[in-house]
Amino acid sequence: MSERTAPIISPSILAADFSRLGEQIAAVSNADWIHVDVMDGHFVPNLSFGADITAAAFRSTDLPLDVHLMIEHPEKWVDNYIKAGASCVIFHVEATEDPVALARHIRAAGVRAGFSLRPGTDIEPYLEVLDEFDLALVMSVEPGFGGQSFMPDQLDKVRKLRDVIDSRGLSTLIEIDGGISRETIASAAAAGTDAFVAGSAVFKASDPGAEVDALRECAKDAVRG
Ligand code: DX5
Ligand code: ZN
Repeated sequence: MSERTAPIISPSILAADFSRLGEQIAAVSNADWIHVDVMDGHFVPNLSFGADITAAAFRSTDLPLDVHLMIEHPEKWVDNYIKAGASCVIFHVEATEDPVALARHIRAAGVRAGFSLRPGTDIEPYLEVLDEFDLALVMSVEPGFGGQSFMPDQLDKVRKLRDVIDSRGLSTLIEIDGGISRETIASAAAAGTDAFVAGSAVFKASDPGAEVDALRECAKDAVRG
């Protein structure tokens, strides 16, 4: 995965035109990562795509793929996404019994491990095991659909994570996902977010590449103050 410093912009291909996925990914070659939203119709009430499309995305770009698994029993499926070319595999803590064991399994394969939580899930139990993860993905919408409104109350989780990561000198990255746009990215950046997923804001824009640059500038400005 890219070592480029924050702000990291990760366009979500969930909002892309799937009939020309390669072209859409090429249009955001100035991004830092590509975000791949996998939904199983069980963990979330929506179905997106699986490992084959993830592998197709991998073949169409040199950018690292951060793969967000919104699926039940991720431990049964992570190997497929590792094989598909994921740089980081993110699973939901609500979906598996032993998140630390799963993170260790992913890391043992040489891939970064991330955890995510639904907006209603408390971050506290995971703060003490942060060193087991390369990335913490804070959901700022209910997982399942693109195009929803940003939930500003979720920034409390970002602030808590930032405190713990900085005070313990950890390298875990904080990523935020849901409703990120030019209007909302500054507040997330100011709270201490490193990486920003943006689906609709990027792929519904007339120039997705230019929108990536605009989002990055907004995030940089917010940190500069
Ligand atoms: C929601 C997904 C998000 C989604 C973001 O379940 O995890 O990654 O694609 O889409 P926007 O940016 O449109 O909120
Ligand atoms: Zn996502």
